[in-house]
Amino acid sequence: MQPPISRDRFFSDARSRLAGNRFAVATPTKRALTRAGRRTPGDNARLATTVPAMSTPTSSVSLTRFLIEEQHADRINPDLRLLIEVVARACKTIAVAVGKGALGGVLGDAGTGNVQGEAQKKLDVIANDVLLEANAWGGHLAACASEEMDDPFPIPDAYPRGNYLLLFDPLDGSSNIDVNVSVGTIFSVLVCPGDAACVDTQSFLQPGTAQVAAGYCIYGPSTMLVLTIGHGTHAFTLDREQGSFVLTRREMRIPEETKEFAINMSNQRHWEAPMQDYVRDLLAGKEGPRGKDFNMRWIASMVADVHRILTRGGIFIYPWDRKLGSADPLADAHPTKRGKLRLMYEANPMAMLVEQAGGAATNGRSRILEVAPEHLHQRLPVFLGSKSEVEAATTYHLAHDAAAREALAEA
Ligand code: AHG
Ligand code: MN
Ligand code: MN
Repeated sequence: MQPPISRDRFFSDARSRLAGNRFAVATPTKRALTRAGRRTPGDNARLATTVPAMSTPTSSVSLTRFLIEEQHADRINPDLRLLIEVVARACKTIAVAVGKGALGGVLGDAGTGNVQGEAQKKLDVIANDVLLEANAWGGHLAACASEEMDDPFPIPDAYPRGNYLLLFDPLDGSSNIDVNVSVGTIFSVLVCPGDAACVDTQSFLQPGTAQVAAGYCIYGPSTMLVLTIGHGTHAFTLDREQGSFVLTRREMRIPEETKEFAINMSNQRHWEAPMQDYVRDLLAGKEGPRGKDFNMRWIASMVADVHRILTRGGIFIYPWDRKLGSADPLADAHPTKRGKLRLMYEANPMAMLVEQAGGAATNGRSRILEVAPEHLHQRLPVFLGSKSEVEAATTYHLAHDAAAREALAEA
């Protein structure tokens, strides 16, 4: 019997294996296993060539170094750099709380509701507090706004105020917390118009095109921060031993074409006609008008669905549906009743990340980033991901509207 190896030795062995280009230890073939684990040097050589190389980080650029280099390239100023560092630090704290799960006593309902009438989970409240506390004293912010708070939170008078506004969905996908599925934090950064001392709700009502940074942190099997400051979308993975985010994917690119869609199909009967038509054609597959078979995925954590799309393409849709509150998708419904997802905390930051990765994002009819916000907690339909697929879905809606206008004109 092999003597047990120490924890340190295990990790140092694992590290040195990962440092090499080939990870030949994984997935032995059936034949190799039937030899009761007695692999010959020949087997090892064969396995090393048949088992794909495990992808290893190509660099050790930390988030800090990445941001400093962006500053040297005049793409970010020191205040915004500090702000992003602070958000990333808060996300690490949230990752620890999420990771503790049942052991941390953080699962389940908080017993409260947010401004949108949704039941809050304990972790919604914890994540919100962590982000507020971390960002209060740095001197880079004028105020924060959160999906979980009725009104903006101005930086207290005890601390210096800066010029930025931070908006966040502290915990996205929180219905998944109790079942141990990936959740995340989404954030967006705007510049405070006018005097930072007079910040109010109106200060936040800027279109997504005005965002100077956006990102999310996904708490999954690994914790990742995906960030844009308007020059591409970049992914960082948390090195849990070092406690720092390391750049693992520079310039993410979403393939233009896709065969994968993400939608909650249980709402199908509540959708409007062009949405019904679009999904019917996807489901018709090769034999239908789209001429190809589509696969479907729905995690119900926008962060996790968008992360998949940034990684391998796809289209994510949360369309208008009748039960969300408005009688007609084009009617002038109250801004908080026009969809499920929130413009300021979810749609705008995700749209910026997706566009910066070569994808597209619309509300089914027009570009999300150009929507003029009327309400801090405004909601809207969201279509985002692979460019040609988002264009296809948007075209179904625009063609439907044009036909409806024509029919009206003829009547
Ligand atoms: P949140 O947990 O911040 O309220 O957001 C949940 C959102 C989004 O993450 C997800 O895509 C969507 O709600 C799931 O909605 P359904 O449960 O209606 O599928
Ligand atoms: Mn959310
Ligand atoms: Mn949330």
